[in-house]
Amino acid sequence: MAPAASTPVKSVLVLVSLATLLLVLVSAVEGYNGRHAAAHSAVARRSRLGITRHVHHRRTATPHRYVLAEKSNRTDGGAKNRSAPATSNATSQTPAPPAAPSKHHRSHKHRVRNWIIGFVVGSLAGVISGLVLSVLFRLTLNCIRGRYRSRSGVTIFTPKLIRRAEHLAFLEKEDGLASLAVIGRGGCGEVYKAQLPVEREGVEPRFIAIKKIKKQNSDTPNNLSDEESRQLDKWSRQIQSEIRTVGHIRHRNLLPLAAHVPRPDCHYLVYEYMKNGSLHHALKADAAGDGSSSGAVGLSWPARLRVAVGVAEGLEYLHVSHRPQIIHRDLKPANILLDDDLEPRIADFGLAKAMPEQHTHVTASNLAGTWGYIAPEYHQTLKFTAKCDVYSFGVILAVLATGKEPSDDYFKEVDEVGIVRWLRRVVQSGNHAEAIDAAIAGAGYDEQIVLVLRIAVFCTQDDPKERPSAKDVRCMLSQINN
Ligand SMILES: Nc1ncnc2c1ncn2[C@@H]1O[C@H](COP(=O)(O)OP(=O)(O)OP(=O)(O)O)[C@@H](O)[C@H]1O
Ligand SMILES: [Mg+2]
Repeated sequence: MAPAASTPVKSVLVLVSLATLLLVLVSAVEGYNGRHAAAHSAVARRSRLGITRHVHHRRTATPHRYVLAEKSNRTDGGAKNRSAPATSNATSQTPAPPAAPSKHHRSHKHRVRNWIIGFVVGSLAGVISGLVLSVLFRLTLNCIRGRYRSRSGVTIFTPKLIRRAEHLAFLEKEDGLASLAVIGRGGCGEVYKAQLPVEREGVEPRFIAIKKIKKQNSDTPNNLSDEESRQLDKWSRQIQSEIRTVGHIRHRNLLPLAAHVPRPDCHYLVYEYMKNGSLHHALKADAAGDGSSSGAVGLSWPARLRVAVGVAEGLEYLHVSHRPQIIHRDLKPANILLDDDLEPRIADFGLAKAMPEQHTHVTASNLAGTWGYIAPEYHQTLKFTAKCDVYSFGVILAVLATGKEPSDDYFKEVDEVGIVRWLRRVVQSGNHAEAIDAAIAGAGYDEQIVLVLRIAVFCTQDDPKERPSAKDVRCMLSQINN
């Protein structure tokens, strides 16, 4: 969805031009009616000058033929009329057949013309009022959602977090990020942490994460290689996608875009800061056993299960509750962030696609996502469905239970191709102890972990039809959690 409503000035301009157009139309119609009225008054004036009989006959519905005959008689010359009243009278009683059809035809033409003008003006008025109403509706909707764009081009999607555009004014300066700490680095660039101004004393300070994404500047000469230009194009598309798909969605397990700040040379995407970082970092800290030194938290099995249930709830919302359905396309532990209570939030909707109603799949122009998490059928056909997300989620469940990522060297050592086939073999052989992460094994949760491993295998079936839906997975995981 384009952020049309974030341009109130544009909308007001559209409204003003539509109103002007309406006024012009109304005045045109009035002008037409005015001419019509003028014609009537001319007739009245003529009647005051002595042609009263003509008007009188029209009012009393005298047949047209009579009136026309009388008129044609008058055009013969007033003198003749005066000199020979009897003849005139006689003539006026005589029907004038040739003139009658032409007058009748003209009046019919007149009615048709009126009808056409009425139809055109009515349709135009209908279209214009429809447009005006739709603009007003969008403005109202966006006021309710609290989405607006400031004069500087800053678009705020979550005013609950970013209360004023001025709070992001520092991002408009050249060295806006200079004093900020880098908290992460991804394919698009660095991620910085910043504190929002405290508005009242005694209120907890709030933090934001700012993702900087370079963009191609049309003013400066393009010294970029083809590959770099393609990459920048891809990032711009991802920003658009993020704005369109998650600019307005709200769910406790989704991390929506809070604001977008365009700069001449880059874009800043602003999110709520997630204190506990990404699931990827938390699991890495567990594996290294250095949770305290890296600042990342260690995750017990109950915490991991809660993460699994939370992500499944977020996914169910995207696939089932939201219309149109949204497919994330890049589910992986690095895109699952953990808030203060270790509640998961699905982030990075840069590759997300809204699935149009009635569509069973969308075909991508190129393969997107992260190796190890991409469903095999998407690899082969470039067609993606909601079941591709379910596959990626199955890999995440496997990572949570085994503590191994698809890119781990371990999978180069074993004969199987990747985490999915390896897990399938382990579960089929019943040798679960081999698969469970040593950091969580033997703590009284092994039975639950085995169930989750089975669900992981179920979600990563080769045939997408055999995979469960996001709703089914959420139900299964909730049952284990209770
Ligand atoms: N809102 C946030 N709060 C806290 N940390 C964040 C936030 N957003 C991102 N990060 C940190 O920044 C890191 C980089 O994020 P980014 O999304 O740019 O890259 P990525 O997800 O690792 O890889 P990719 O480019 O494939 O998405 C994350 O792994 C996370 O640790
Ligand atoms: Mg990411």
